[in-house]
Amino acid sequence: MNSDKSIWASLPVPAFIIDVEDRITDVNSAGEGFLNASQKSVLGHPVWDQIAVDAPLEEAFERARKQGTPLFVNDVDVGSGNRSPLQCALQIAPLIGHQGSMIMIITPRELAGRMTRGNTVKSAAQSAIGMAEMLAHEIKNPLAGITGAAQLLSMNISPQDLELTDLIVAESRRIVKLLEQVEQFGNLSPPDFKPVNIHDVLDRARRSALLGFGAHMRIIEDYDPSLPLAYGDPDQFLQVVLNLLKNASEAADPKGGTIRLRTYYEHSFRLRRSDGSGHMLPLQIEIIDDGPGLPEKIRGDIFDPFVSGKENGTGLGLALVSKIISDHDGWISAESVPGRTVFRISLRRAPKEASEITAQESAE
Ligand SMILES: Nc1ncnc2c1ncn2[C@@H]1O[C@H](COP(=O)(O)OP(=O)(O)OP(=O)(O)O)[C@@H](O)[C@H]1O
Ligand SMILES: [Mg+2]
Repeated sequence: MNSDKSIWASLPVPAFIIDVEDRITDVNSAGEGFLNASQKSVLGHPVWDQIAVDAPLEEAFERARKQGTPLFVNDVDVGSGNRSPLQCALQIAPLIGHQGSMIMIITPRELAGRMTRGNTVKSAAQSAIGMAEMLAHEIKNPLAGITGAAQLLSMNISPQDLELTDLIVAESRRIVKLLEQVEQFGNLSPPDFKPVNIHDVLDRARRSALLGFGAHMRIIEDYDPSLPLAYGDPDQFLQVVLNLLKNASEAADPKGGTIRLRTYYEHSFRLRRSDGSGHMLPLQIEIIDDGPGLPEKIRGDIFDPFVSGKENGTGLGLALVSKIISDHDGWISAESVPGRTVFRISLRRAPKEASEITAQESAE
């Protein structure tokens, strides 16, 4: 029995026992973490009051209970209390020896880009980008020559042929734009670390988005006013938020859509590396849009360079985001279902001394 108890407590995934009347009769510690509530406060409560599942489960659940068969549900949004829903897999099975009781295991499925990937993204990006940078440099000069020649030609030709020279000029511009993006990636300097008010960064990004690429969007602010200062490079953070807002705006219906900028504090969020080192990343920033979601085909690779779901996309936006966040020892992840795509960034807070210095400086 004791070993049963310790197995139950050590299970690293949220697990629940549900009785005949759909009430929670036991929850393990990962489950408490998932619900953000203590065992005491949830025992005896109806499970579907505590856990919101975005799928019509009841019938299947009843069937599993009656027939004593397990039930697996992949890729459902599971929410609890005031936390935003996570995409999860549910595994439900009858509890042997307890007629009518079920055990339910919830496995949150974070998409891509978490830190373990972050490092590989960085090195893959670096070699691909290094090559591309060299090419960019070599291609830009002859390209300028081609464009110039086409423009000269266009001065004395028939209107039909004009179409052709216009095409040469337009396509060359497109290549130049791509090359400039590649160069921007390569030119990224190491972050200039200082305490940063994330809400200022979000505001700047929001205003600039609404004036330009995001003019058709509604951008809602949902800020935790007590959020402490982050630690990093404000210009690079701005670039990150702009890239994410741009993607959300491009994914939305041309008639418009809604983006929510959310910040909150999660004091227990900790980054652990495989070498055992780690640090706290308590500042959470979410950029949530209600667009169609990440295309199925590229879902797992969106943070890699040159991966794009768009006809004219270069696929560098998220690679740059991922590089900046990993240069800041932060963490980025994405979850996406149609109608709800969340990019979540977790950052360090500014060291105490640093925020005191700036507080003093600004008081002077
Ligand atoms: N919020 C989102 N909703 C839907 N799809 C998205 C979203 N964000 C990213 N994507 C998908 O991920 C792909 C990669 O994004 P990324 O920003 O890296 O490149 P891009 O936008 O195609 O090109 P670039 O940013 O270099 O102009 C996009 O092409 C798009 O298909
Ligand atoms: Mg982009």
